[in-house]
Amino acid sequence: MKKLKILMAASECVPFAKEGGLADVVGVLPKHLAHLGHDVRVVMPRYYKVNREKYGLKRLPGVLVVPMGIIGEQYCSVWEGRLPGSDVPVYFLEHEGYYGRDGLYEVDNVGFLDNDNRFIFLSRAAMELPKMLGFTPDIIHAHDWHTAAVPLFLNTLYRNDPRFARSASVLTVHNMQHQGNFYEGAMDVLGVGWEHFTFLGLEKDGEVNLLKGGIYHATVLNTVSEGYAREMQTPEYGWGLDGVVRERAADLVGILNGVDYDDWNPESDPFIAANYSAADLTGKKLCKRDLQRAFGLPERDDVPLFGLVSRLVKQKGIDVLAEAIPRILALDLQVVMLGAGEPWAHFYFGDIMAAHPERFAIRVGYDNPLAHRIEAGADFFLMPSAFEPCGLNQMYSLRYGTLPVVRATGGLDDSVDNFDEARLTGTGFKFWSLDAAALFDTIGWAVHTWYHRKDAMARLIANAMAKRFTWEEAAAKYEELYRQAIRKRLGRRA
Ligand code: ADP
Ligand code: GLC
Repeated sequence: MKKLKILMAASECVPFAKEGGLADVVGVLPKHLAHLGHDVRVVMPRYYKVNREKYGLKRLPGVLVVPMGIIGEQYCSVWEGRLPGSDVPVYFLEHEGYYGRDGLYEVDNVGFLDNDNRFIFLSRAAMELPKMLGFTPDIIHAHDWHTAAVPLFLNTLYRNDPRFARSASVLTVHNMQHQGNFYEGAMDVLGVGWEHFTFLGLEKDGEVNLLKGGIYHATVLNTVSEGYAREMQTPEYGWGLDGVVRERAADLVGILNGVDYDDWNPESDPFIAANYSAADLTGKKLCKRDLQRAFGLPERDDVPLFGLVSRLVKQKGIDVLAEAIPRILALDLQVVMLGAGEPWAHFYFGDIMAAHPERFAIRVGYDNPLAHRIEAGADFFLMPSAFEPCGLNQMYSLRYGTLPVVRATGGLDDSVDNFDEARLTGTGFKFWSLDAAALFDTIGWAVHTWYHRKDAMARLIANAMAKRFTWEEAAAKYEELYRQAIRKRLGRRA
């Protein structure tokens, strides 16, 4: 089968710039597509924090001219690097005005006021870059609202551009909550014409909504689990765009993210106190001690230890955990938390730590090595998310034999099997209703199982560690999605 030329446009990509799981996906999926023989390239901003020397970036000759509607033409330089461990080129757009600052989207919890221009620029530059490279993409793959204008541009301003005569677009929605909604004046920057500022176009509640435009215009769409693909079509999870998604339901699929098992493997993880495997779990005990020490908790083997690593925002159910935590800490258990996010959470959980120094500790911040130590050292991993398009940590947890306690939503529901006490099947503990009582009861269930059903714990851990969510599998599904997009674009029957 013909190998494809794929341009992936995104605002985050590991190891260069990361806020969440989007970066993990954009940093790994292209490598697996390249293994399948495709010519795949990534385009993203060169934020200040992307160090040109460290990554050996080389400046391409010439400048990229990017039309920005009423703002006029903007110029940027393009730096080329590689995804580490691969030949996949990454093109960094260097524009001092838009990206020459700390933070990807915000600083001190306040979003940049020109995020509309910054990401319209990224999307428009992604359309101009192929000319500079002499690259004719079969697929332009956009991710989330930041590059959701790409499918719109392809269908409008570039409709008759011979370079894109056979190009199809794919939009991956990683999160329905963040939509890129801006003052209507952004229409003049997009430059696609005000006829697109309608209910059946970019307009939503009197504002420009970039994600809405992307959902309408993408040749095909996907999200990051089958569960979320269903949920995002409902008012409860659609954040006002569920109707738009329903209109596109025939072109929408769910593809569960994979895990980078080179990074997340207890047998070889360099960050953890001792390596271990399903066949020999002795190292995991040492990891538990190490984790208790790291958080200043009593070093006890005889108590279940719960871990949480997350952005501390409402999506992750942090408010529900806040309500439940006093009751939870009445049980004989320990809880460690690592995360940063809404300031109230830093204060609230900081107070809880002061009040319960024997049972609870939080570290505010972003710390990848510590995230690995939590995955390895904890007995259980908490993810009480209000919604979770995929979620990566529960999949890491399974590999580390750290049983996830999750709300049954989106990718959490798809990747964790609930403990069945009669058959001793399952890989974790689930609850459904988003409230403190349900969370407390389920933690109580896990704690009871830990203390009184050692046989069941051993079975669950073995089940969990045997689970795999591979990028090979996910990449094959993306390849199929790309071929479907091309067939659709060329008007062939699927
Ligand atoms: P989301 O993208 O919604 O934040 P995911 O579960 O998809 O959720 O991805 C989160 C990623 O970010 C995981 O790789 C997780 O380990 C990492 N992460 C989140 N918060 C922290 C933190 N405070 N320290 C280290 N890693 C973190
Ligand atoms: C989003 C979602 C998360 C998902 C990630 C990567 O940030 O919140 O559930 O795992 O994207 O697809």
